Formats: sequence, structure tokens, C-alpha cells
Amino acid sequence: MSDINEVIKNKKTNINPIWIMRQAGRYLPEFRDIRKKNTDFIKLCLNYELSAEITLQPLKRFELDAAIIFSDILMVPYGLNQKVEFKKNFGPILGELNLQEILNFNEKDFTQKLKPVYMALDLVKKNDLTKNKSTIGFVGAPWTLLVYLINRKSPKQKLISNFFQNSHSIEKILPVLDKFLKIHIKNQIDNGAEIIQIFDSWAGLLETKDLPKYVYFPTLSLVEYVKSQNIPVICFPRGIKDYKIYCDNVKPDAVCIDYETDPIQIRKNITIPVQGGMDPKVLLSDKENLKKEARKYLDIFKDHPYIFNLGHGVLPETDPNMMDYLVKMVKDY
Ligand code: CP3
Repeated sequence: MSDINEVIKNKKTNINPIWIMRQAGRYLPEFRDIRKKNTDFIKLCLNYELSAEITLQPLKRFELDAAIIFSDILMVPYGLNQKVEFKKNFGPILGELNLQEILNFNEKDFTQKLKPVYMALDLVKKNDLTKNKSTIGFVGAPWTLLVYLINRKSPKQKLISNFFQNSHSIEKILPVLDKFLKIHIKNQIDNGAEIIQIFDSWAGLLETKDLPKYVYFPTLSLVEYVKSQNIPVICFPRGIKDYKIYCDNVKPDAVCIDYETDPIQIRKNITIPVQGGMDPKVLLSDKENLKKEARKYLDIFKDHPYIFNLGHGVLPETDPNMMDYLVKMVKDY
């Protein structure tokens, strides 16, 4: 069993596995080389050989314990025939939502459109570099995908003012997302994903009173589905204020914490395995500070099942040497 699965399933505390969100990405010159020649991000995600190669790039450099498939949470709206583009220095832009289309979309067409993602997973899983390691599949949480479908771009600090006005269509979109996210999860598991992480990047935008309807219940449905497949599930509700209430309601196998969350409080209140936390900006400082900050998390979670990771994705301006230092340091702890 891989070290990450040992931590999640067997609650081991004497090992410190590590993987990093966005570990395959723009801070790596070998990724930027490929990206320069592939200006259409969606097309790159649909090039299964290149996607597999990009997924493996960080594993060639660092002793990481997992490969996370190079793809995007917005491949699900794309799979539902919605227009999704990535503009340089801006981020994702979605077309106007075609509700009729997604309500009538069929499973076969969806799986067919995303086939290269599953083929990439299969290649990654079969590669020697992932031997004894975990291959991680992922989805965006229903709430975060709803945000992108309606807001049509990253919301930064807040939602567009009339976000909830068309609540009628929100009621219709959520069941569609539930259905197709489960299909996407199943397809990833069938092609080698041994862990599923659910990214709820915009959970922090909601008021507490709205969390059950948009975050807890829809995510619980996915969590129960992943568990029914005998696969562990990690949830990352970024920006949420009360991780304990989240865990009590959503019941993931492990929870990933963001960098604004106090790890000491988490250690006190959360009983399930924990992942992540360190601010990605720490990697932009110096080695001494990096060691100090990484140690802080390792010390706090010394007697708790813990998977080292950051509190959000690694920043593009990160020096790969700092990543190297971090991985070695965590392994030697
Ligand atoms: O972690 C990994 O290495 C796996 C690959 C991965 C990507 N996106 C590749 C990517 C994963 C797990 C994601 C998830 C994702 N995508 C999230 C959830 C995590 C988070 O960051 O909160 C979200 C919100 C998205 C949507 C998205 N995709 C945004 C907002 C952006 C633009 C912002 C940015 O960082 O450039 C993307 C593009 C994207 N997804 C890139 C990568 C490597 C950058 C593409 C590029 O310009 O080269």
C-alpha cells in the first residue's frame, strides 16, 4: 500500500508522505516548454500523451508520494459541451450556460469527450514512476463548479451580485452536476485513480447559513459515492471557517486545510487524517524560513495521521530548487 493510503486508511503517524497541489505546472521549466507549444489549455488536457508526461514531470525531479493527473476541474463543464477557455493572465472564461443542453446531455457523449483524460490516467498508473505511489484523480465540488457555470470566470473576492437570483436554474444544475461528477469519478477510478480529491475552492464565499444546501449535502453525496467504490476521498473546502462542522457533515476520509486555517485548532478539533496547510508563499522565501514553516506543520501533526501538502496550489514563480529542498526535508523529518 502506498504511504498516502497508509496514512488515510491505517491512520499511520510515523510516516510523512508528501505531494503538492499543482505539482505539475508553471513553476517547472519543462512544463512551460510544453505549454509554449500548446497554447490551448483544454486541447493540452485532451492530449493524453502530453497530459501523462506533464503529470510525471514532478515525479522525475522529486521524491513525491503521489501523481495527480494533469487536468482541470473545468473539464466537466467542457465535457457537458459548455464553452470553456483559458485566457493568459486572466484565467478561465466560460460561455453562457446552456441549461437545456446540460439537462439533456447523455452519459456516453460525456465519457467520450473526456476519454483522453482517462487514457492519460491509465498511462500514468502503468508507468514505473508511480509504482508504490498513489495516483490521484479529482473533481471540483458541485458548489465550485456552480460558481464557474454561473459566474463564468473566477469570482476573486465575491460572487456577482445577482448570483442567486436565478435560483430556479440552480435547483436544476445541482442534480446534473451530481450525476456527471459521479460519472467522472467512476471513469477515473476505472482507469487507475486510487484516491479522489474534491476541490471546493470557493466554499469560503458562502455565508454559514448557505453551507448545508450548497456545500455539505452536495459534497456528502459525492463522498458517499467515492466510499462506495472503496476508494479514499480527500476534501479541500478552501476558505471555510469551521472545518470541524464541515468534516462532521461531509465525512471525508481526510481533509485538506488551507493556509489561513490555524493548524493548532485543527489538531485539537479534527480526528480524521489531515493534509496540507503551509502557505505556498513560504516557498518564495529562503530555505531557513521554509524549514521552519514546514517543521511547524510536521511538529503540530507529529502524532496525527498527516499528509504534507500546501494550503493551496504551488505558485508559478516558485524556484524548483525550493521544492526539492522541501520534499527532502519532509522525507528526512
Ligand atoms: O494539481 C495538479 O497539479 C493537477 C492539475 C490541476 C490543474 N487545475 C491544472 C491547471 C488541478 C487539480 C486543477 C484544479 C483547479 N482548476 C481548481 C481547484 C484548485 C484551486 O486552484 O483552487 C480550480 C479553481 C481550477 C480552475 C482553474 N484552472 C483556474 C482558476 C486556472 C487559472 C489560474 C491559474 O492558476 O493559472 C486554471 C488553469 C490551470 N489549471 C493551470 C494548471 C497547471 C495553469 C494553466 C497555464 O496557464 O499554464
